[in-house]
Amino acid sequence: MCGIFAYLNYNVARERGYIAEVLFNGLRRLEYRGYDSAGIAIDSNRSGFVGTSKTAESAGIDRNEVSKSNSISIPYNHPLVFRQEGKIDSLVGSFYEEVESLNLNLEEQYSIHAGIAHTRWATHGVPSPKNSHPQSSGVEDEFLVVHNGIITNYEVLKETLIRQGFTFESDTDTEVIPKLAKFVFDKAHDGDGDQTVTFSQVVIEVMRQLEGAYALIFKSPHYPNELIACKRGSILLLGVKELTEDVTTRSLFHDVKTLTRNGKPKELFFSSDLCALVEHTKNYLAIEDNEVVHLKDGCVSIFKFDYVTEKPASIQRALSFLEMEVEQIKKGNYDHFMQKEIHEQPQSLTTTMRGRLKGKSVILGGLKDDIKTIRHSRRIIFIGCGTSYNAALAARPFLEELSGIPVTMEIASDLLDRQGPVYREDTAVFVSQSGETADTLLALDYALENGALCVGITNTVSSTLARKTHCGVHINAGCEIGVASTKAYTSQIVVMIMLALDIGDDKVSTKQRRETIIDGLYNLPNIVREVLKLDTAMKDLAESLMDEKSLLVFGRGYNYATALEGALKVKEVALTHSEGLLAGEMKHGPLALVDETLPVIVIATRDGCFSKQQSVIQQLHARKGRLIVMCSQGDVSLACSTGFCRSIEVPQVEDCLQTVINIIPLQLLSYHLTVLRGYDVDQPRNLAKSVTTQ
Ligand code: F6R
Repeated sequence: MCGIFAYLNYNVARERGYIAEVLFNGLRRLEYRGYDSAGIAIDSNRSGFVGTSKTAESAGIDRNEVSKSNSISIPYNHPLVFRQEGKIDSLVGSFYEEVESLNLNLEEQYSIHAGIAHTRWATHGVPSPKNSHPQSSGVEDEFLVVHNGIITNYEVLKETLIRQGFTFESDTDTEVIPKLAKFVFDKAHDGDGDQTVTFSQVVIEVMRQLEGAYALIFKSPHYPNELIACKRGSILLLGVKELTEDVTTRSLFHDVKTLTRNGKPKELFFSSDLCALVEHTKNYLAIEDNEVVHLKDGCVSIFKFDYVTEKPASIQRALSFLEMEVEQIKKGNYDHFMQKEIHEQPQSLTTTMRGRLKGKSVILGGLKDDIKTIRHSRRIIFIGCGTSYNAALAARPFLEELSGIPVTMEIASDLLDRQGPVYREDTAVFVSQSGETADTLLALDYALENGALCVGITNTVSSTLARKTHCGVHINAGCEIGVASTKAYTSQIVVMIMLALDIGDDKVSTKQRRETIIDGLYNLPNIVREVLKLDTAMKDLAESLMDEKSLLVFGRGYNYATALEGALKVKEVALTHSEGLLAGEMKHGPLALVDETLPVIVIATRDGCFSKQQSVIQQLHARKGRLIVMCSQGDVSLACSTGFCRSIEVPQVEDCLQTVINIIPLQLLSYHLTVLRGYDVDQPRNLAKSVTTQ
């Protein structure tokens, strides 16, 4: 849920102000992951820390000068920690105010410097400076930690540490981590003060004690200019930028050690997301679970912690090349990311289909031989949360039709709550934009344990979902930054339609139908371009609805998902109560709400359910319902024959692709409603994009 970032410059002079800006910028890219509070830690040249004889020695001070009490005042880069409630901009504002009051020189140069940063979505403790990260080991900030995830055994650890004399200031689970690091460090330096413990040894010992999911970055004045990152569960990436040669070409495929061994100037980054790396480098490493990555003297050392033998082993990893352009993470000419992402759907859908439609067939390379196993499944289970669940629901009827296999739907958290049955003969398809949603990942673990074939459908290369599933398909929609998912939704549907086509590819009986849909897919981006022209009409509609307290959306068949997703968009960004309802259920309850004031959207585009929707519209008219009907172009009088209704006319496409078209006016409506109501479009209240907590 939170975003963590770090920047280490090695053998290249960088001013303090520049370093702070790199950290702030990293946080801005990650802000969508949480925006309750933020913080950074950088170095000062303030001295006065009480160190041990060993730290004195490593600081070049004669150990005989060390007092009997085994302590000495050693000048070192004491960290400066800035933490602030609110969005990144308030952190930046308070930083520059403090720079003045502390009389900090922003032009001071560091040829090597390690800084860490965090943006928070609160789980334990309200947003406040004390609950913001970096969390600290105590007054001297001997260990500082930024954390994404949740430590499940923090209460036990906290009690133990309190018994050891530690006092806690925050309400976070994270605070136990730096305190545990200090405890481990102090213990190693007890007694004669001669024992040295490396930074990675401290961190590995800390990891040994932690339960839960986490990505962590550690900074400590005991290990100046070093950084350590480790992870279990939550995503974490290393970015490597060499400054003397161009390593941004695919041909130069280095392993981490070769690239970082020499003393050449370089910049190293840790980040929760590729979006924060792309403007610096395209060479990255997705850190694996239980790996500890140690940056020291311009080198990267990686250890793998084995929980069985409890021993860390040094390992070698190869860097990957990032397929992303900087433009993707910028707003361009748009006012908001959500607006940009809605309008970019003709391109994102094109990219989703690129290389996958071959003549009249579909090839999904990520499924390879597994497609045969899927065809022989006893059941296909779609599993996801929120918008991703809705996307699967939109594709379900077509998958059932083409595969002939029962397809069931599971909201990830509900599957876990019920411990619903999952069998070896099942194919479990996990859908997630981020690939990091905790509920979805836990459901994945559950399905893996139960022996199902697990397929991942995600937008995030190197995500946990992508790595843990047996096979899968990337939706390739490009970086989605607006918290409300838009372009990922339509790309997910298209991937699942292609999945259905691929599964059904061996059936002669559906050949004609499949070819018609494939033709429809080729043309889909053009039709999306056309439907986007409804932008002004949707703004007008938003103006007429901006003071409403509630909105109902009725759909059925393919468009039940559209009703759910349209209502979800209105709810989450425009902060207006909105319900997506199955039209077949209208007369079993919701009809009681209908009167001449409550706006009701009915989706009645042409498909097998059209006549039933006509009848729903008639029943709503009979109750004087305030109707807004979405229908196929030219169908207004047919869809709405019994009275007045406002209409949204959309181009007609093949039934299973119509959901991609129909959601777009509703995305536009929710966008304009939000702007008109004056709410934050890209970062809606209380939400975050990657929900990495249960
Ligand atoms: C709504 C939205 C959420 C996500 C949900 C799952 O616009 O974005 O409902 O769809 O949190 O997230 P992913 O797809 O990342 O698993």
